[in-house]
Amino acid sequence: MDTFEIFEVGPRDGLQNETTSIALADKVRFIDYLSAAGFRRIECGSFVNPTLVPQMADSAAVFAAISRRPAISYAALTPNMQGFKAAVAARVDEVAIFASASEGFSQKNINATIEESFERFKPVIEAAKRYGIVVRGYVSCVTDCPYDGCIDPEQAAKVAARLYSMGCYEISLGDTIGKGTPERISRMIATVAKQVPIEKLAGHYHDTDGQALANISASVALGMRVFDASVGGLGGCPFAPGAKGNVATEAAVRHLLAAGFESDLDLEVLDQSADFARKLCGKPNGSPVSLE
Ligand code: HMG
Ligand code: MG
Repeated sequence: MDTFEIFEVGPRDGLQNETTSIALADKVRFIDYLSAAGFRRIECGSFVNPTLVPQMADSAAVFAAISRRPAISYAALTPNMQGFKAAVAARVDEVAIFASASEGFSQKNINATIEESFERFKPVIEAAKRYGIVVRGYVSCVTDCPYDGCIDPEQAAKVAARLYSMGCYEISLGDTIGKGTPERISRMIATVAKQVPIEKLAGHYHDTDGQALANISASVALGMRVFDASVGGLGGCPFAPGAKGNVATEAAVRHLLAAGFESDLDLEVLDQSADFARKLCGKPNGSPVSLE
């Protein structure tokens, strides 16, 4: 039977754009819930400029307080060496660097052109190799950019291929503003997959237009098996105005189970963690999630 994996990004992407400060103890409880649900990889925080993303400012304290399980990789975003050093000190299992397929978002998100961002990532990848820490790569705005509009699939492929050739073990393709349609997402993946093997690609779909589940189906049809998601459908990016949350993990899992895939996630704990996450963010139970 065919399987899939959800890379749970709720504690990072899910919470980063919440304007109300969430207590450290609640973030830790949230991640401990997710560990119990059976995820193999959980993105728990970011080592970025805390004045730009205040909700992630306590990431080091989060990593110090979670109850780690040996089979789980606890991940964080590290845009530069300053972030990487902080991540190493926090005993992060894996890090992610994040580039953009569009110049507009690259500039707004990380204050660098695409080319400059690669210069910053190089020493991070080299240092990570020395520490034995694997590096994941994100490409944002793979179909649409809030500043530059529609993005040519070749541009997404170029950035993904560069990250892959630099040493990222997996490339997550971000529909940052949730405007991709199955047809455009398919075209983009088919173009990227000419340069990066499909089994090294993941889909990261925000659900602004309610297309994320259809985009997952389209991706699965092309052979993709890893998807980023946030329990409760939380998420957004401070630099992507109007973007809604990531696809809700509990909806994505049920969608893929209904399509005949297998998962060893504990659905009961998963639903409890989604309820917990929504309460943390003051959202009513079941609100943004379209369960089938
Ligand atoms: P910069 O301004 O170019 O960096 O920022 P700088 O080296 O010139 O430093 C400026 C200040 O930032 C200094 O502080 C540094 O210490 C500080 P000051 O002297 O002014 O007090 N600084 C840092 N502080 C903590 N940790 C660091 C760090 N680096 C510099 N690592 C930088 C460049 C990337 C750091 C900045 O633009 C930034 O933090 N941006 C936030 C990026 C972010 O977190 N975005 C959201 C996540 S990405 C996302 O959501 C998309 C994704 O989900 C996929 C998708 O949906 O598409 C992944
Ligand atoms: Mg995102």
